[in-house]
Amino acid sequence: MKVSLHSGDVTKLSTGLLGLLCFEEGMAEGAIYQAVDKALDGLLARLVAEEQFKGKKGQTLSLHTHGRIAPSRVLLVGAGARKDFAAADLRGFGARTMKAGASAQAKVVTAVLPYSEGASQERHAQFLTEGALLAAYRFDKYLTGERKKPEVVEELKLAMSPDNVDGSRLDAVKRGLQRAEQIAHAVSLARDLINEPAGEMTPKKMAEVAQRVAKQHGLEIKVLGPKECEKLGMGMFLAVAQGSEEEPRFIHLTYRPKGKTPAKKKVALIGKGVTFDSGGLSLKPSSAMEDMKVDMSGAAAVIAAIGVLADLGVPYEVHAIAACTENMPSGKSYKLGDVLKSMNGKTVEINNTDAEGRLTLGDAITYAVQECRVDEIFDFATLTGACMVALGPHTAGVMGNDLSLVERWLASARLAGEEMWHLPLPPGLRDQLKSDVADMRNTGERWGGALTAGLFLKEFVGDTPWVHVDIAGPASADKEIGHTPKGGTGFGVSTIVEYLASRE
Ligand code: BES
Ligand code: MN
Ligand code: ZN
Repeated sequence: MKVSLHSGDVTKLSTGLLGLLCFEEGMAEGAIYQAVDKALDGLLARLVAEEQFKGKKGQTLSLHTHGRIAPSRVLLVGAGARKDFAAADLRGFGARTMKAGASAQAKVVTAVLPYSEGASQERHAQFLTEGALLAAYRFDKYLTGERKKPEVVEELKLAMSPDNVDGSRLDAVKRGLQRAEQIAHAVSLARDLINEPAGEMTPKKMAEVAQRVAKQHGLEIKVLGPKECEKLGMGMFLAVAQGSEEEPRFIHLTYRPKGKTPAKKKVALIGKGVTFDSGGLSLKPSSAMEDMKVDMSGAAAVIAAIGVLADLGVPYEVHAIAACTENMPSGKSYKLGDVLKSMNGKTVEINNTDAEGRLTLGDAITYAVQECRVDEIFDFATLTGACMVALGPHTAGVMGNDLSLVERWLASARLAGEEMWHLPLPPGLRDQLKSDVADMRNTGERWGGALTAGLFLKEFVGDTPWVHVDIAGPASADKEIGHTPKGGTGFGVSTIVEYLASRE
């Protein structure tokens, strides 16, 4: 979709729909509202009064202009009280506007960008554009007939009041637009990978996608097959993979900043890449297995995000790592009671083959520590149902071994508008992972399952500052909310970009 800026008279702008944000205190862009109302001979204000449109959050009012002004429709979107408004809420406004435009069959959809002071204008432009672009996302490649509809909206315009336009403001808004397009592109890629059925999105396919991303963004790439993983001693990753007919692929993308100055730090972004999680011999019941194509959402997020980081030319060396495999039951599956040897030498007794994610991640973490010698590790994993029990379906659980890093990460998440919450790694729960025959076992007891999974991963990070993000809930949505459609969400991409390409 094309994205552009408009800073002229909106009443002369040919657009299928013009979206305007409204606070309880009044229109976000008073001048534009007045201009539209005037051109409509006061019709808008009369309608606002008649329909008791108060700008309450979620309230909308739409009006067909019947050719009295160039925009065919005007949509007022309530934003609630100004004091409760966060920049990230502009995504919701963008999404509302885009969805209303699409259902009105608009070729051009326009959203009015509210005026804001200084640097925040860039972020506002970004969020508004992101919301609109991401709300337009669809995964319809498998639909046929009636339900396969061509895309109607061809262009998104951001309108600014002519009085507020000067050179520096325009530059800021343009930067915001560009960042939004990059993020929306990456989030859409992650969503596509997650939404693709597991029968298609196999470990090999994931590696092909990573190759394409590497080519497009000028990244180094290494793809390891089972032989190479064996040489490195990835006993846990390979054990998970051994029950499947599909070969595993260990994907490693590297971005190095150009130029002579050395990278300021080295960061590993590790994503869980289980392309289908049946549970293995500890087989999941059918209902729990139904959605398990999403178990590679962490991998999708890191593969998509590193492309944006490269395009932005961030000053850090970044490694995106994804140990991709299926978790399947078969005559070759790893078994309960098996003792595995991990890449860092620790041995692990298996008491549940459905706790496979931590095994694949453990070896990926060791790889990041030993082979990439990174300064910081972030892992993203649809790791535990327990995390969803704790925090609900929209919030990621964040654990780590370095409080200041966790706090910086959470600050980025807040700015990016992704819901994350700090969970503890209580040392007292480590006993649950004790084994009589090995250094540890792979699962603890029922209560605190997200935390014991975190404690398991902690065994592999050593002294490297590390943040673990359990995205079991927010990786996919069971219904559409705002700019997030049903299905894969691309959760994580925005915060990764915010953290490593911050403007604050
Ligand atoms: N992939 C699942 C976790 C999951 C659950 C992701 C729901 C998304 C939605 C993970 O591999 C798993 O099976 N975890 C087990 C751990 C248990 C065996 C200790 C779980 O949460 O039940
Ligand atoms: Mn599992
Ligand atoms: Zn899993």
